[in-house]
Amino acid sequence: MELYKDIEKILFTKEEIAEKVKELGKRISEDYHGKNVLLICTLRGASVFFSDLIREIDADLTIDFIAMSSYGASTKTSGEVKLTKDLATPISGKHVIIVEDIIDSGLTLKYVKRMLEARNPASLKVCALLDKPEGRRTDFEGDYIGFTIPNVFIVGYGLDYAERYRQLPDIGILDPTVYTK
Ligand code: PRP
Repeated sequence: MELYKDIEKILFTKEEIAEKVKELGKRISEDYHGKNVLLICTLRGASVFFSDLIREIDADLTIDFIAMSSYGASTKTSGEVKLTKDLATPISGKHVIIVEDIIDSGLTLKYVKRMLEARNPASLKVCALLDKPEGRRTDFEGDYIGFTIPNVFIVGYGLDYAERYRQLPDIGILDPTVYTK
């Protein structure tokens, strides 16, 4: 794929990602056995992970979508999280898992979790494929984490830089010349 010319290094191959998604799906299947669970996809970055993850979960589940934005066309968060699309269904009394591609500063998920907690779900957990603890600007921990990564800017498997690279099947470190030129 032409876009790979901008990738400095592949961090996780599609096979490694698939293996991890399977593991996360198994843990969620065990924890929610016999329950109904609502999985919320946070658009747009998590969409690829989300569609793979739900197919690895062996429990009764429904899905919904929410969208926030804080990065714009930058590699750093603006720190201001905006809700750009709300859920279509009420979550009161439901077991809910928010699905994210990455926890970086933690600001997005802290905002979303607080907003959804106010709607009184029976339980509320967070599943993120990637966690970048060095990026934290607030105290926030996810419940189900795929990979913990160093402080590098990554793209692929749903993650973008200025809306590009989302379709790469692997996760890679973006060559810094792409965003410093
Ligand atoms: C990305 C990502 C998370 C958030 C994580 O979203 O999908 O939602 O940033 O960063 P944080 O922990 O520093 O808040 P982005 O705003 O880039 O939108 P996108 O999902 O449409 O790419």
